[in-house]
Amino acid sequence: MAHQWQGVIEEYREWLPVDEHTPVITLGEGGTPLVHSAWLSGLVSGDVWLKVEGDNPTGSFKDRGMTLAISAAAGEGAKAVVCASTGNTSASMTAYAARAGLTPIVLVPHGRIAAGKMAQTVMHGAQVIQVRGGFDECLQISRELAEQYPVELVNSVNPMRLQGQKTAAFEIIDALGRAPDVHVLPVGNAGNISAYWIGFKQYEKGGLAERTPQMWGFQAAGAAPLVLGKPIADPETIASAIRIGNPASWLLAETARDDSGGRIAAVSDEQILAAQRELSSREGVFVEPASATGVAGLLAAVESGDVEPGLTITVTVTGHGLKDIDTALSGIDSIVDSVIDVDVREAAAIAGLA
Ligand code: F0G
Repeated sequence: MAHQWQGVIEEYREWLPVDEHTPVITLGEGGTPLVHSAWLSGLVSGDVWLKVEGDNPTGSFKDRGMTLAISAAAGEGAKAVVCASTGNTSASMTAYAARAGLTPIVLVPHGRIAAGKMAQTVMHGAQVIQVRGGFDECLQISRELAEQYPVELVNSVNPMRLQGQKTAAFEIIDALGRAPDVHVLPVGNAGNISAYWIGFKQYEKGGLAERTPQMWGFQAAGAAPLVLGKPIADPETIASAIRIGNPASWLLAETARDDSGGRIAAVSDEQILAAQRELSSREGVFVEPASATGVAGLLAAVESGDVEPGLTITVTVTGHGLKDIDTALSGIDSIVDSVIDVDVREAAAIAGLA
Protein backbone atom coordinates (compact mmCIF):
# COMPACT_ATOMS: atom_id res chain seq x y z
CA MET A 1 0.00 0.00 0.00
CA ALA A 2 1.57 3.28 -1.09
CA HIS A 3 0.02 5.59 1.44
CA GLN A 4 -2.71 5.26 3.98
CA TRP A 5 -3.47 7.12 7.22
CA GLN A 6 -2.44 4.69 9.97
CA GLY A 7 -4.84 5.66 12.77
CA VAL A 8 -4.01 7.86 15.73
CA ILE A 9 -1.70 5.44 17.60
CA GLU A 10 0.76 5.12 14.71
CA GLU A 11 0.39 8.70 13.51
CA TYR A 12 1.04 10.20 16.96
CA ARG A 13 2.87 7.34 18.71
CA GLU A 14 5.53 9.52 20.37
CA TRP A 15 2.84 11.62 22.06
CA LEU A 16 0.89 8.66 23.46
CA PRO A 17 1.31 6.29 26.42
CA VAL A 18 1.98 3.19 24.30
CA ASP A 19 5.07 1.06 23.81
CA GLU A 20 6.19 -1.57 21.34
CA HIS A 21 4.27 -4.27 23.25
CA THR A 22 0.91 -2.51 23.04
CA PRO A 23 -1.27 -4.25 20.44
CA VAL A 24 -2.65 -1.69 18.00
CA ILE A 25 -6.41 -2.13 17.63
CA THR A 26 -7.33 0.42 14.97
CA LEU A 27 -9.95 1.19 12.35
CA GLY A 28 -7.89 4.01 10.85
CA GLU A 29 -9.53 6.63 13.07
CA GLY A 30 -8.47 10.28 13.07
CA GLY A 31 -7.14 12.24 10.11
CA THR A 32 -10.55 13.89 9.84
CA PRO A 33 -11.04 16.92 7.60
CA LEU A 34 -10.78 20.50 8.78
CA VAL A 35 -13.41 22.12 6.59
CA HIS A 36 -13.46 25.87 6.07
CA SER A 37 -16.85 27.49 6.66
CA ALA A 38 -17.41 30.53 4.48
CA TRP A 39 -20.76 31.09 6.17
CA LEU A 40 -19.44 31.18 9.74
CA SER A 41 -16.27 33.02 8.70
CA GLY A 42 -18.44 35.77 7.27
CA LEU A 43 -20.52 35.99 10.41
CA VAL A 44 -17.53 36.32 12.75
CA SER A 45 -15.47 38.45 10.33
CA GLY A 46 -12.66 35.96 10.76
CA ASP A 47 -11.82 32.41 9.79
CA VAL A 48 -13.89 29.49 11.02
CA TRP A 49 -12.96 25.86 10.41
CA LEU A 50 -15.05 22.80 11.23
CA LYS A 51 -13.27 19.71 12.58
CA VAL A 52 -15.61 17.08 11.16
CA GLU A 53 -15.40 14.20 13.60
CA GLY A 54 -18.41 12.40 12.13
CA ASP A 55 -15.91 11.20 9.50
CA ASN A 56 -14.36 8.78 11.99
CA PRO A 57 -14.93 5.02 11.45
CA THR A 58 -17.97 4.72 13.72
CA GLY A 59 -19.15 8.26 13.01
CA SER A 60 -17.95 10.14 16.07
CA PHE A 61 -14.84 11.44 17.86
CA LYS A 62 -15.06 8.57 20.35
CA ASP A 63 -12.95 6.37 18.04
CA ARG A 64 -9.81 8.38 18.83
CA GLY A 65 -10.01 7.48 22.50
CA MET A 66 -11.34 4.00 21.94
CA THR A 67 -8.37 2.82 19.85
CA LEU A 68 -6.16 3.66 22.86
CA ALA A 69 -8.49 2.30 25.55
CA ILE A 70 -9.21 -0.99 23.77
CA SER A 71 -5.58 -1.49 22.73
CA ALA A 72 -4.49 -0.99 26.34
CA ALA A 73 -7.22 -3.28 27.68
CA ALA A 74 -6.29 -5.99 25.17
CA GLY A 75 -2.62 -5.58 26.03
CA GLU A 76 -3.40 -6.07 29.72
CA GLY A 77 -5.27 -9.29 28.97
CA ALA A 78 -8.80 -8.02 29.59
CA LYS A 79 -11.58 -10.33 28.43
CA ALA A 80 -14.52 -7.91 28.68
CA VAL A 81 -15.07 -4.16 28.50
CA VAL A 82 -17.92 -2.02 29.79
CA CYS A 83 -19.18 1.50 29.22
CA ALA A 84 -22.11 3.71 30.06
CA SER A 85 -23.27 5.59 27.00
CA THR A 86 -25.72 7.94 25.40
CA GLY A 87 -24.92 6.01 22.22
CA ASN A 88 -21.67 7.07 20.57
CA THR A 89 -19.29 5.63 23.14
CA SER A 90 -21.11 2.31 22.89
CA ALA A 91 -21.04 2.33 19.07
CA SER A 92 -17.31 2.95 19.19
CA MET A 93 -16.44 0.62 22.06
CA THR A 94 -18.29 -2.30 20.52
CA ALA A 95 -16.59 -1.85 17.13
CA TYR A 96 -13.11 -1.84 18.64
CA ALA A 97 -13.99 -4.64 21.08
CA ALA A 98 -15.15 -6.73 18.13
CA ARG A 99 -11.77 -6.29 16.46
CA ALA A 100 -9.91 -7.12 19.65
CA GLY A 101 -12.08 -10.15 20.45
CA LEU A 102 -13.28 -8.64 23.75
CA THR A 103 -16.81 -9.05 25.11
CA PRO A 104 -18.56 -5.64 25.07
CA ILE A 105 -21.09 -4.78 27.79
CA VAL A 106 -23.08 -1.57 27.33
CA LEU A 107 -25.27 0.29 29.83
CA VAL A 108 -27.68 2.77 28.28
CA PRO A 109 -30.18 5.12 29.90
CA HIS A 110 -33.88 4.57 29.85
CA GLY A 111 -35.58 6.61 27.13
CA ARG A 112 -34.27 7.94 23.84
CA ILE A 113 -31.00 6.70 22.42
CA ALA A 114 -30.66 7.52 18.72
CA ALA A 115 -31.58 4.45 16.67
CA GLY A 116 -28.47 4.58 14.47
CA LYS A 117 -26.22 4.28 17.51
CA MET A 118 -28.17 1.34 18.87
CA ALA A 119 -28.00 -0.34 15.46
CA GLN A 120 -24.20 0.00 15.50
CA THR A 121 -23.96 -1.30 19.05
CA VAL A 122 -26.13 -4.33 18.35
CA MET A 123 -24.43 -5.16 15.03
CA HIS A 124 -21.02 -5.15 16.71
CA GLY A 125 -22.30 -7.76 19.12
CA ALA A 126 -22.84 -6.00 22.43
CA GLN A 127 -24.66 -7.18 25.48
CA VAL A 128 -27.00 -4.17 25.92
CA ILE A 129 -28.39 -3.41 29.39
CA GLN A 130 -30.92 -0.62 29.74
CA VAL A 131 -30.95 1.05 33.13
CA ARG A 132 -34.02 2.72 34.63
CA GLY A 133 -32.14 5.96 35.07
CA GLY A 134 -30.05 8.44 33.13
CA PHE A 135 -26.47 8.41 31.85
CA ASP A 136 -25.08 9.40 35.23
CA GLU A 137 -26.61 6.33 36.90
CA CYS A 138 -25.35 4.12 34.04
CA LEU A 139 -21.84 5.42 34.65
CA GLN A 140 -22.15 4.73 38.36
CA ILE A 141 -23.08 1.10 37.72
CA SER A 142 -20.32 0.73 35.12
CA ARG A 143 -17.74 1.98 37.61
CA GLU A 144 -18.98 -0.49 40.21
CA LEU A 145 -18.96 -3.36 37.72
CA ALA A 146 -15.33 -2.61 36.86
CA GLU A 147 -14.38 -2.36 40.55
CA GLN A 148 -16.04 -5.60 41.57
CA TYR A 149 -15.88 -7.84 38.49
CA PRO A 150 -13.34 -8.81 35.81
CA VAL A 151 -14.27 -6.14 33.29
CA GLU A 152 -12.40 -3.03 32.11
CA LEU A 153 -14.14 0.36 32.17
CA VAL A 154 -13.59 2.37 28.97
CA ASN A 155 -15.59 5.52 29.66
CA SER A 156 -13.56 8.73 29.55
CA VAL A 157 -12.67 8.31 33.25
CA ASN A 158 -10.24 5.77 31.75
CA PRO A 159 -7.21 8.05 31.13
CA MET A 160 -6.45 6.32 27.82
CA ARG A 161 -9.61 7.84 26.35
CA LEU A 162 -8.49 11.44 26.84
CA GLN A 163 -5.01 10.55 25.61
CA GLY A 164 -6.47 9.34 22.32
CA GLN A 165 -8.95 12.17 21.97
CA LYS A 166 -6.25 14.82 22.42
CA THR A 167 -4.94 13.89 18.94
CA ALA A 168 -7.72 15.99 17.40
CA ALA A 169 -6.00 19.09 18.82
CA PHE A 170 -2.72 17.92 17.27
CA GLU A 171 -4.41 17.51 13.89
CA ILE A 172 -5.88 21.01 14.05
CA ILE A 173 -2.46 22.56 14.69
CA ASP A 174 -0.84 20.32 12.07
CA ALA A 175 -3.44 21.46 9.52
CA LEU A 176 -3.46 25.19 10.34
CA GLY A 177 0.27 25.43 11.02
CA ARG A 178 -0.61 27.24 14.25
CA ALA A 179 -3.04 27.05 17.15
CA PRO A 180 -6.44 28.65 16.60
CA ASP A 181 -7.38 31.68 18.72
CA VAL A 182 -10.52 29.98 19.96
CA HIS A 183 -11.59 26.35 19.96
CA VAL A 184 -15.32 25.62 20.30
CA LEU A 185 -17.01 22.31 21.12
CA PRO A 186 -20.03 20.69 22.79
CA VAL A 187 -19.73 19.52 26.40
CA GLY A 188 -21.53 16.53 27.91
CA ASN A 189 -19.53 14.27 30.19
CA ALA A 190 -16.73 16.83 29.68
CA GLY A 191 -14.04 14.40 28.54
CA ASN A 192 -13.50 15.90 25.11
CA ILE A 193 -12.94 19.50 26.19
CA SER A 194 -10.42 18.17 28.72
CA ALA A 195 -8.70 16.05 26.06
CA TYR A 196 -8.38 18.93 23.58
CA TRP A 197 -6.88 21.08 26.32
CA ILE A 198 -4.27 18.39 27.07
CA GLY A 199 -3.44 18.21 23.35
CA PHE A 200 -3.20 21.95 22.77
CA LYS A 201 -0.97 22.36 25.83
CA GLN A 202 1.32 19.47 24.82
CA TYR A 203 1.91 20.88 21.35
CA GLU A 204 2.66 24.30 22.84
CA LYS A 205 5.08 22.79 25.35
CA GLY A 206 6.69 20.75 22.58
CA GLY A 207 7.24 23.88 20.50
CA LEU A 208 4.77 22.95 17.76
CA ALA A 209 2.52 25.90 18.56
CA GLU A 210 3.31 29.30 19.99
CA ARG A 211 0.25 29.42 22.19
CA THR A 212 -2.96 27.69 23.21
CA PRO A 213 -6.50 28.70 22.20
CA GLN A 214 -9.31 29.86 24.43
CA MET A 215 -11.58 26.88 25.05
CA TRP A 216 -15.27 27.64 24.54
CA GLY A 217 -17.56 24.79 25.61
CA PHE A 218 -21.33 24.72 25.16
CA GLN A 219 -23.95 22.63 26.93
CA ALA A 220 -27.66 22.21 26.22
CA ALA A 221 -29.69 24.51 28.47
CA GLY A 222 -31.62 21.63 30.07
CA ALA A 223 -28.39 19.75 30.77
CA ALA A 224 -25.94 22.47 31.75
CA PRO A 225 -24.50 21.53 35.15
CA LEU A 226 -21.16 23.22 34.43
CA VAL A 227 -22.95 26.47 33.65
CA LEU A 228 -25.16 26.26 36.75
CA GLY A 229 -22.25 25.15 38.91
CA LYS A 230 -24.10 22.15 40.31
CA PRO A 231 -25.21 18.68 39.16
CA ILE A 232 -28.70 18.30 37.66
CA ALA A 233 -30.84 15.34 38.72
CA ASP A 234 -33.03 15.15 35.59
CA PRO A 235 -31.17 16.57 32.59
CA GLU A 236 -33.34 17.05 29.50
CA THR A 237 -32.47 18.03 25.93
CA ILE A 238 -33.24 16.91 22.40
CA ALA A 239 -29.47 16.50 22.00
CA SER A 240 -29.57 13.07 23.62
CA ALA A 241 -25.79 12.54 23.33
CA ILE A 242 -25.17 15.28 25.90
CA ARG A 243 -28.11 14.65 28.24
CA ILE A 244 -25.83 14.42 31.26
CA GLY A 245 -26.35 15.97 34.69
CA ASN A 246 -23.10 15.24 36.51
CA PRO A 247 -20.08 15.19 34.15
CA ALA A 248 -17.26 12.86 35.16
CA SER A 249 -14.52 15.25 34.01
CA TRP A 250 -16.06 18.25 35.80
CA LEU A 251 -12.84 19.57 37.34
CA LEU A 252 -10.73 18.99 34.22
CA ALA A 253 -13.27 20.91 32.15
CA GLU A 254 -13.27 23.83 34.58
CA THR A 255 -9.47 23.86 34.43
CA ALA A 256 -9.55 23.89 30.62
CA ARG A 257 -12.01 26.79 30.69
CA ASP A 258 -10.17 28.83 33.33
CA ASP A 259 -6.55 28.19 32.30
CA SER A 260 -7.36 29.00 28.67
CA GLY A 261 -9.34 32.14 29.50
CA GLY A 262 -12.38 30.51 27.92
CA ARG A 263 -16.01 29.97 28.80
CA ILE A 264 -18.68 27.30 29.20
CA ALA A 265 -22.18 28.52 28.38
CA ALA A 266 -25.58 27.08 27.47
CA VAL A 267 -27.72 27.13 24.32
CA SER A 268 -31.36 26.14 23.92
CA ASP A 269 -32.62 23.10 22.02
CA GLU A 270 -34.08 25.49 19.43
CA GLN A 271 -30.68 27.07 18.87
CA ILE A 272 -29.10 23.60 18.57
CA LEU A 273 -31.63 22.40 15.99
CA ALA A 274 -31.35 25.66 14.00
CA ALA A 275 -27.55 25.33 13.93
CA GLN A 276 -27.87 21.69 12.83
CA ARG A 277 -30.16 22.69 9.93
CA GLU A 278 -27.95 25.59 8.83
CA LEU A 279 -24.81 23.44 8.87
CA SER A 280 -26.54 20.89 6.67
CA SER A 281 -28.10 23.28 4.20
CA ARG A 282 -25.33 25.90 3.98
CA GLU A 283 -22.17 23.85 4.41
CA GLY A 284 -23.07 20.30 3.41
CA VAL A 285 -22.05 19.08 6.85
CA PHE A 286 -24.75 16.88 8.39
CA VAL A 287 -24.23 16.36 12.11
CA GLU A 288 -26.34 14.99 14.93
CA PRO A 289 -28.02 17.55 17.24
CA ALA A 290 -25.45 17.39 20.07
CA SER A 291 -22.71 17.96 17.51
CA ALA A 292 -24.23 21.26 16.44
CA THR A 293 -24.09 22.63 19.98
CA GLY A 294 -20.70 24.29 19.46
CA VAL A 295 -21.89 26.01 16.29
CA ALA A 296 -25.06 27.11 18.11
CA GLY A 297 -22.87 28.56 20.86
CA LEU A 298 -20.66 30.40 18.39
CA LEU A 299 -23.72 31.86 16.66
CA ALA A 300 -25.08 33.02 20.03
CA ALA A 301 -21.72 34.61 20.89
CA VAL A 302 -21.71 36.48 17.57
CA GLU A 303 -25.25 37.66 18.23
CA SER A 304 -24.32 39.09 21.61
CA GLY A 305 -21.23 40.79 20.18
CA ASP A 306 -18.78 38.56 22.05
CA VAL A 307 -16.57 37.64 19.09
CA GLU A 308 -13.94 40.17 18.11
CA PRO A 309 -13.15 40.34 14.38
CA GLY A 310 -10.11 38.71 12.80
CA LEU A 311 -9.98 35.53 14.87
CA THR A 312 -9.16 32.04 13.68
CA ILE A 313 -11.77 29.78 15.25
CA THR A 314 -12.01 25.99 15.08
CA VAL A 315 -15.25 24.21 15.93
CA THR A 316 -15.50 20.49 16.57
CA VAL A 317 -18.65 18.91 15.19
CA THR A 318 -18.56 15.65 17.08
CA GLY A 319 -20.78 13.08 15.36
CA HIS A 320 -22.50 12.22 12.08
CA GLY A 321 -26.07 13.24 11.31
CA LEU A 322 -27.01 9.75 10.12
CA LYS A 323 -26.81 8.52 13.70
CA ASP A 324 -30.09 10.22 14.56
CA ILE A 325 -32.31 10.56 11.52
CA ASP A 326 -35.51 10.52 13.60
CA THR A 327 -34.70 13.90 15.14
CA ALA A 328 -33.61 15.29 11.75
CA LEU A 329 -36.78 14.15 9.99
CA SER A 330 -39.08 15.20 12.84
CA GLY A 331 -38.30 18.82 11.98
CA ILE A 332 -39.46 18.38 8.38
CA ASP A 333 -43.15 18.56 7.37
CA SER A 334 -42.90 16.32 4.35
CA ILE A 335 -39.95 14.58 2.72
CA VAL A 336 -41.60 14.46 -0.70
CA ASP A 337 -42.59 17.84 -2.14
CA SER A 338 -44.57 16.62 -5.18
CA VAL A 339 -45.69 13.39 -6.82
CA ILE A 340 -45.90 13.29 -10.62
CA ASP A 341 -46.41 10.86 -13.49
CA VAL A 342 -43.44 9.90 -15.69
CA ASP A 343 -43.29 13.31 -17.39
CA VAL A 344 -40.16 15.43 -17.79
CA ARG A 345 -42.10 18.65 -18.43
CA GLU A 346 -44.05 18.28 -15.23
CA ALA A 347 -40.81 17.67 -13.30
CA ALA A 348 -39.21 20.74 -14.91
CA ALA A 349 -42.21 22.93 -14.18
CA ILE A 350 -42.39 21.94 -10.52
CA ALA A 351 -38.62 22.33 -10.09
CA GLY A 352 -38.87 25.84 -11.55
CA LEU A 353 -36.61 24.99 -14.47
CA ALA A 354 -39.10 25.78 -17.20
N1 F0G B 1 -21.07 15.14 21.00
C1 F0G B 1 -21.45 13.86 20.83
C2 F0G B 1 -21.97 13.47 19.50
C3 F0G B 1 -21.35 12.94 21.89
O1 F0G B 1 -21.73 11.68 21.70
C4 F0G B 1 -20.85 13.37 23.14
C5 F0G B 1 -20.75 12.45 24.26
C6 F0G B 1 -20.46 14.71 23.25
C7 F0G B 1 -20.58 15.57 22.17
C8 F0G B 1 -19.91 15.27 24.51
O2 F0G B 1 -18.59 14.86 24.73
O3 F0G B 1 -18.93 13.75 26.91
O4 F0G B 1 -16.65 14.29 26.07
O5 F0G B 1 -18.17 16.11 26.81
N2 F0G B 1 -21.21 11.26 24.23
C9 F0G B 1 -21.02 10.26 25.29
C10 F0G B 1 -21.53 8.90 24.83
C11 F0G B 1 -21.52 10.66 26.63
O6 F0G B 1 -21.89 8.07 25.67
O7 F0G B 1 -21.52 8.65 23.64
P1 F0G B 1 -18.05 14.75 26.22
